[in-house]
Amino acid sequence: EGPRPLVAGNWKMNGSVAMLKEPRLLAAMLKDVKLKADVMVCPPAILVRRVKSVLKGSKIKVGGQDCHWAASGAHTGDISAEMLKEAGCTAVIVGHSERRTNHGETDEIVNKKARAVQKAGLKAIICIGETLEERKSGKTLEVVTRQLKGSLPEGSTASDTVIAYEPVWAIGTGLTPTTAEVAEVHALIRKELSGLMGQDGAGVRILYGGSVKPSNAEELMSQPNVNGALVGGASLKAADFLGIIKVYA
Ligand code: G3H
Repeated sequence: EGPRPLVAGNWKMNGSVAMLKEPRLLAAMLKDVKLKADVMVCPPAILVRRVKSVLKGSKIKVGGQDCHWAASGAHTGDISAEMLKEAGCTAVIVGHSERRTNHGETDEIVNKKARAVQKAGLKAIICIGETLEERKSGKTLEVVTRQLKGSLPEGSTASDTVIAYEPVWAIGTGLTPTTAEVAEVHALIRKELSGLMGQDGAGVRILYGGSVKPSNAEELMSQPNVNGALVGGASLKAADFLGIIKVYA
């Protein structure tokens, strides 16, 4: 038996006050469901407090999508892990491929951010994954290993760290790797985690992300070393997200 799975919804830059009906609906639908997994939604930072209040009394957790590596200071436009914590977050996604690509985030930066998240007492959901070009040229395992080693802070533990494997070419495209390909990468990540963290490596949740939807969730989630999902598009509608979460009902 592996670690308790986590299904996290990443809203990305979507959401509005009107959309708060979705987490409200989700909370109502999950109210009496006994789940074998944790559920989390990661709205844009400006909506975190409102989502928290909509989810009051529910077991659904709230996470941030990114943060600065400093706790405070002269960083116009940025927010810190401490601030997300104060707003009610229990985790922060760091190193999402959209941050790496659109904001030039390197493994070194992601590592600093992850450390800040852990220092604030939150879980760092560290994203890694290869591009299509890297996959085609047979570099997937090499890239994933490099990103994992570079982005995982020293001293990480199973309780403050979650890894999300997201092949860049599978994000928002409707494409997914084969189950064998997913299992291969997740096995590699597990092996590397054990090397880097010792015994604790076995307890780290490794999520799969990239075009997860109700129709493919069961198959993807049943692969060895897949301990849940990081869901983008399909997390925006309560009914779709529920369809994925139900794998663990
Ligand atoms: O963080 C979520 C991933 O980028 C997956 O997005 O489910 O829309 O493909 P997607």
